[in-house]
Amino acid sequence: MNKKSFPLAKVYTLLETGPVVLISTSRKGIANIMTQSWHTMMEFEPPLVGCVISARNHSFDALKSTKECVINIPTVELAKQVVAIGNCSGRKVDKFARTGLTPVRASLVQAPMIMECYANLECRVADTRLVNSYNFFVLEVVKAWIVPAVKAPKTLHHRGKGEFMVAGDTVKLPSRMK
Ligand SMILES: Cc1cc2nc3c(=O)[nH]c(=O)nc-3n(C[C@H](O)[C@H](O)[C@H](O)COP(=O)(O)O)c2cc1C
Repeated sequence: MNKKSFPLAKVYTLLETGPVVLISTSRKGIANIMTQSWHTMMEFEPPLVGCVISARNHSFDALKSTKECVINIPTVELAKQVVAIGNCSGRKVDKFARTGLTPVRASLVQAPMIMECYANLECRVADTRLVNSYNFFVLEVVKAWIVPAVKAPKTLHHRGKGEFMVAGDTVKLPSRMK
């Protein structure tokens, strides 16, 4: 295979292919949502998820102070809302009102779950040691919800600059991993 050098500034477009998620928070009774794709699994159980959330985002302050959020996983039907939510700030906009998404009460955290997403992960901040240096929050999932009828969710996977892949075929292979 012929290969060519690839710009370092675009490396993220090769790796940033986990599902795009919507992180909801609630501070002083005001709910907000941000679009997020720089996240990584860190542990099976309890599930730990690392998330990079820019300190410029309103969600950063809410997460830092309340230490709670919900990771909501949207499918392709919500693509327009996902992009809209990632291009405005809760400092100025009520994103639930703007997008028509429905906040529903979570069971263990104050942040709302987004009804239209096929999965919702209620999270508490487990570790903030890398927040000051990398804006990296370690979240523990304390309760998870899915819609069982959705067997092959068509999740969105960001490839940079507004380009997304949509999850497609499932292949099953023998594997010793969970
Ligand atoms: C596809 C997509 C992925 C994004 N991923 C991240 C991310 O991983 N971390 C981050 O800090 N911002 C990310 N953003 C940007 C935030 O969603 C954006 O700054 C948002 O307006 C923040 O809202 P807030 O100020 O209400 O918190 C992403 C935006 C888009 C459109």
